[in-house]
Parts: sequence; structure tokens; C-alpha cells
Amino acid sequence: MVKANEIVADNINSQFDLKTYLESQKSIVEAALDRSLSIRKPEKIYEAMRYSLLAGGKRLRPILCLATCELLGGSTAMALPTACALEMIHTMSLIHDDLPAMDNDDYRRGQLTNHKVYGEDIAILAGDGLLAYAFEYVATQTQQVPAERLVKVITYLSHAVGAEGLVGGQVLDLESEGKNDISAETLTFIHTHKTGALLEACVLSGAVLAGATQIDLERLAQYAQNIGLAFQIIDDILDITATGEELGKTAGKDLKAQKITYPRLWGLEASRQQAQELIDVAIEQLHPYGAKAEPLRAIANYIITRKN
Ligand code: FPP
Ligand code: MG
Repeated sequence: MVKANEIVADNINSQFDLKTYLESQKSIVEAALDRSLSIRKPEKIYEAMRYSLLAGGKRLRPILCLATCELLGGSTAMALPTACALEMIHTMSLIHDDLPAMDNDDYRRGQLTNHKVYGEDIAILAGDGLLAYAFEYVATQTQQVPAERLVKVITYLSHAVGAEGLVGGQVLDLESEGKNDISAETLTFIHTHKTGALLEACVLSGAVLAGATQIDLERLAQYAQNIGLAFQIIDDILDITATGEELGKTAGKDLKAQKITYPRLWGLEASRQQAQELIDVAIEQLHPYGAKAEPLRAIANYIITRKN
């Protein structure tokens, strides 16, 4: 059992430079993503896929995968194809989420959404192409990893994408729009599926690639689930408090779409408090790893202080 003062000590003693770490990891991920998908025929679909895949963003999902793999003694090279696949899956979910049939959004990552540039038909196909390619990419590009681990990674990814993950969460999210009687329980279901499942897959796939034990997987699943929910609470808060420029997408959309959110249920301050508690629990899970877990600890803290 970890005591509260030990958790505080973990935070205070940290000399870890998160900004430099995130910048350097992001540049590794950007270069790998650029290499992962070259333009072939028919050019239009590859251009549409690359348009969204290379549009920037925090690259938090691939960075989480790399950091977890390294925490358990794995290398960047072992995890890089999976890290790219996770970003392909995340990007495809955003392309589809922005479609007129879903959230009908015009801006994403500071630029026009995929369907605004390429049309709805191509945007749907670009999403489909990225999703299929993500799995092909993990299966064909991963090296120095035993096949059983790869099967496990593919199982995590497919589970996170399907009806028990992103798809299921999105369905309930769409059904909840405009309703005033959504419970905190339903809201949590939406977020643990729509956002949490993929974040958990990022952490667990990185862990599995490095050869995690069952106890590692249990601890890291707890870490991921807690940062996942905190991430979404902060997303809800930022939708109210940040500008469109800061977010790179339309601000104030939840209110406009009459979406139920944590700030709407609990208020801004209580939502922040709840997010902080989740981050504290997440950081607690890292205690057995000591200083080696500094990147994951710092990422957890970043989730709550981020501005976009
Ligand atoms: C953004 O949420 C959307 C998601 C996190 C995922 C949406 C999931 C789908 C569209 C299903 C995708 C299909 C497959 C097969 C994976 P948001 O609308 O709350 O956030 P935003 O403000 O960034 O749009
Ligand atoms: Mg949306």
C-alpha cells in the first residue's frame, strides 16, 4: 500500500523535463508516421489519409506506448510500429467523428476536417483505410518481438476499437445528445469506452511488447484507466474554458450540441478536483517502478495541466 506522503515525494523530487521529453518523442513519432504511409495509387485516398495522419496533434497515444515499453526494458524500435498504428486508429476515429452524420465539425488540429477537404465519401474511406492499415502495419513492421506478444497487442487494439471500446462509446455518446437525464454512470461508460479504451490499449500494448508480467499489466491498466477518465474530464472543461485557437477545433461544442459533460453534472471546480484525484490514483500505481516511471508520471500530471 502506498502512503500519500510517498506519492507527494514522487512528484516533488522530480527533475524530469517533460517538455523536452515530449518534444523529442513527438519528433520520433512524426518522422515514423511520415515514413509509414507513402503515396501510391489511387493517390487521392493516400493523400486524404496522410492529410489527417500528419496534421500534428499532441501524439500522446504513441508517446504513451513508447514510454510504457521503455519502462519495462523494451526499446523504441520494438514499439514504434504499434505507436504509429495507435495514432492511425486515433486519427481515423477523429475523421469519422467529424463527419456530418456524427459531430459535423469543420476544424480539427487547426485545419479543415478531412471531409471538408476531400468530401464525405473519401473521408469515410480514408478512415477505413487507416484502420485496416494500422493492423497490417503492426503485423508486418514489428521486429524483435515474439509472435505471441504481437497477437496480444493486436487483440488489445481490436478490442479497444470495437463495440466494447470506441464504437460502443460513440454510439452512446450520439444517443445521449440533447437529453437532460443522462446519469454520471452513463457518462462514465461513454468516456471509458470512447476515449479510455484506446488510451489503455496504448499503455498495455507498450507493456506487452516489452514482455510485461501479469502484475505489471494490472498496475498499468489501473494507471491507464485513471488517466483516461481524467483526460476526458479535462477535455470537457477545456471545451468550456479554452478558445478555438488554443484547441485547434471548435470550442463550446458540447454546450451547443447539448451534450452531457462532467462540468454540467458537477460544476467546473468539482470536475477539476475529480480529475486530480484520478491522476493521484494513476501515479500511485507507478510507485513500484521508482524513477524509471518518471515519463509516465509526468504525462499523468501533464494531462491535468494541459491547455489543449
Ligand atoms: C472525439 O470525441 C471522438 C472520439 C474520441 C472517438 C469517436 C469514435 C468513433 C467515431 C468510432 C470510430 C470507428 C472505429 C471503427 C474506431 P468528441 O467528439 O467528444 O471530441 P472532439 O471535440 O475532439 O470532437
Ligand atoms: Mg467530436
